[in-house]
Amino acid sequence: MNILITGICGFVGSTVAEALLDQAASSDLTITGIDNFSRNGSWLNRDRLQARGVRILHGDIRTAADLEAIGPFDWVIDAAANPSVLAGVDGKSSTRQLVENNLGGTINLLEACKRWKAGFILLSTSRVYSIPPLANLEVEVQDRAFHPPSNNQEQGTNNEEPRTKNQEPRTRNQELPGFSRSGISESFSTAPPVSLYGSTKITSELLALEYGLTFDFPVWINRCGVMAGARQFGKPDQGIFAFWLHSWREGRPLKYIGFDGLGHQVRDCLHPRDLAPLLVKQMATKNQEPGTTTPRVINLSGGLASTMSLRQLSDWCTERFPDSPTRDFLPPVAEVLKPEVRPFDLPWVVLDHSLATETWGWKPTTSVTDILEEIADFADQNPDWIAVSA
Ligand SMILES: NC(=O)c1ccc[n+]([C@@H]2O[C@H](COP(=O)([O-])OP(=O)(O)OC[C@H]3O[C@@H](n4cnc5c(N)ncnc54)[C@H](O)[C@@H]3O)[C@@H](O)[C@H]2O)c1
Repeated sequence: MNILITGICGFVGSTVAEALLDQAASSDLTITGIDNFSRNGSWLNRDRLQARGVRILHGDIRTAADLEAIGPFDWVIDAAANPSVLAGVDGKSSTRQLVENNLGGTINLLEACKRWKAGFILLSTSRVYSIPPLANLEVEVQDRAFHPPSNNQEQGTNNEEPRTKNQEPRTRNQELPGFSRSGISESFSTAPPVSLYGSTKITSELLALEYGLTFDFPVWINRCGVMAGARQFGKPDQGIFAFWLHSWREGRPLKYIGFDGLGHQVRDCLHPRDLAPLLVKQMATKNQEPGTTTPRVINLSGGLASTMSLRQLSDWCTERFPDSPTRDFLPPVAEVLKPEVRPFDLPWVVLDHSLATETWGWKPTTSVTDILEEIADFADQNPDWIAVSA
């Protein structure tokens, strides 16, 4: 089987490529990758992948001719994107650049799939889910982290206003379709606003599904939650687990942004190598039995078992890097005055991957502490990683 992985030298592309090679039973697997090396540090993955037999092309998915040069392939795993939720609005990248990369690039890949009758797998994102209901989620602090209150508390009869400050009357959590205390499922609203980044991804999803149906090639949409692991190029707006941990290791100043200013915001966390077993199954179902109804769009995430707040991550880092001065930059409760606010910040994002478990028997296998240990070990070996990658 010939696979094309776009963004192959990025964090997810390179990790998935290696995991697929680790898992391949025979030499029947050939991987070609394309990357324009726009992500700082991505070039560092090139030699390692080439040493494993991966063919790497320096090219750009925005340019159709670069894809034409690749030749036939059986599947595309699309992991090339500008993956920041602040892309196009932070003054560091233009909206045109974002749309051309994340959507124009997808169109070129779909045209290539049409040509070669190849399958297409999009690594999409939890950022396709509607921001207002997530931003207004009812949460309370338990054990240094936001959590949705239990149903009993939500259904209380004292008519108290929910805790999070809010401009408009808010829908109670349990009335939000697609929301449960296990996380956000695929049926959660994708109505705008979802951020420019999220909108390039949901538009790519729709186009991919439409191309697949129209031109008869298989398409799988994997909406991934936050991913983390060694070699991730962490920045404050993308790759937060790696950015936070490397910053502690390097003794850099950090601050909590938004909400109560105490870092109670929560994410779940997935190691991208855990995607590989599912990708193998998806790529084996090119010719699905007629009449089967395997869902084409699924969430993949670490799920509830792998959630952590920034505050809890700081506690973990304090133990792991006891001599780091970073702790002195973070505010004790009494000093919090007016936390900085950033667009698109959300208090609690946990993706519910139960549909992937039901459909494919897929579950994440790397625990959040194993992910953190892996990043910390890598940080010990690469003490200047922030400068290399941010
Ligand atoms: N990392 C996460 O937490 C996360 C979560 C959900 C979804 N995703 C998705 O996974 C994919 C990979 O994310 P990542 O974390 O590995 O990001 P990354 O920035 O580490 O990797 C992206 C790679 O794509 C390359 N690239 C960008 N534009 C390109 C172009 N036009 N042509 C060729 N190469 C190009 C970059 O140089 C980089 O090597 C993205 O599509 C992202 O939306 C990531």
